[in-house]
Amino acid sequence: MIEFTYSGSFETVLTDGKKAALKEIHDNLYNKEGRGSDFLGWLDWPSTVQPEFMERIQKTAEVIQEKAEVLVVIGIGGSYLGAKAALTALSPYFNKDDKKTEVLFAGHQVSGEYLKQLLAHLDGKEVMVNVISKSGKTTEPALAFRFLKKYMEDRYGEAAAERIIVTTDAEKGALVNLAIENGYERFVVPEDVGGRYSVFTAVGLLPIAAAGFSVSELMAGAKDAEEAYQVFNPKTNTAIRYAAARHHLYSEGYTTEVMATFEPKLAYVQEWWKQLFGESEGKEGKGIFPASVSFTTDLHSMGQYIQDGIRNLFESFLLIKESKEDLTVFEAENDGDELNYLAGITLQEFNHVAYKGTSSAHLDGGVPQMSLTIEKMDEFHLGHLFYFYMISCAYSAYLLDINPFDQPGVEDYKNNIFKLLEKPGY
Ligand code: PA5
Repeated sequence: MIEFTYSGSFETVLTDGKKAALKEIHDNLYNKEGRGSDFLGWLDWPSTVQPEFMERIQKTAEVIQEKAEVLVVIGIGGSYLGAKAALTALSPYFNKDDKKTEVLFAGHQVSGEYLKQLLAHLDGKEVMVNVISKSGKTTEPALAFRFLKKYMEDRYGEAAAERIIVTTDAEKGALVNLAIENGYERFVVPEDVGGRYSVFTAVGLLPIAAAGFSVSELMAGAKDAEEAYQVFNPKTNTAIRYAAARHHLYSEGYTTEVMATFEPKLAYVQEWWKQLFGESEGKEGKGIFPASVSFTTDLHSMGQYIQDGIRNLFESFLLIKESKEDLTVFEAENDGDELNYLAGITLQEFNHVAYKGTSSAHLDGGVPQMSLTIEKMDEFHLGHLFYFYMISCAYSAYLLDINPFDQPGVEDYKNNIFKLLEKPGY
């Protein structure tokens, strides 16, 4: 499903010691015995998800599509990036008709200008809101929801309550209390699934379904991945191979991984990936720094650094074999732009040549490489890809002896903000 290449030799990566470590990680994962194993609810979620839950997501999405031209999804980090990544990858450019309901995001930063303009953009359109926060107390989404709740109440009066859906913990947090008080429809974020591993729960599925994409196909792809990667075979299991190769490079001093793509629609898959790996691995003074570039755009900027800067980088290309649409370069009567030599090739073919040229230049410049290629970008392949990265991330963090599922460092900046704003109790 995912074709994987690595510029180095797996003989060096898969030493007996590494294979034994990977086997131990595998057994701990599936026996739910490793560090943070209370948060492994995502591991068999695709194969155990209840049909009633999927039906409820679909029905609610249909109600949203009937009632709303715009769905505002409020959330930050793992409570927004999965849906944003999927929507950008599946319908990225100008074809707004792809989407049944336009999905816009709020609460993923604290820009007054952004929120004011978003509210103005909603005027005259039918709106619904899905506020998502597992803890139910994260400041950025809570602040945005304060404004959007008032906006909805001013516009729809009592009927606002029927246009607000809350996705949060079953019992804990301010948001669940607000939902109960106001009678909002509620979806639960399972206790054993952390934010950045939650794209297959209601956190990701509801916005994706509301936009009109097939969440059953997304889950079928995830299930396909779950089945493929639960088999312990370091020779064939791509998730294990990716984790093992990046860990090997890390131990050789390559401390930054640059995920490189050739399709702008993958920009938020890259953001989602950066959150997943950065927040899972970057602890206890350890971890690969996840960075991203979008080629060929960034060949005219960051390409210089990758080719020639500090040699602590390795690159992982994420490639898509088939493109949904394409253009062929045509022969111009007057070859004024001197591009007739390209006549007959498609832009996708050009991009592939750009990949080959770039990868060999960077390799010559001392940048080790991997490539991950998926057949095409659709719900099924995206579901598979999300799951692939999640399971690889668990292996990668465990290889560093890190708990992949907590984020203690995220609390520090929050406490400082609360102190500066004199929040009671801080
Ligand atoms: O991965 C994580 O756990 C975090 O990135 C959270 O998703 C993020 O901090 C938002 O948290 P919450 O959903 O509780 O508002």
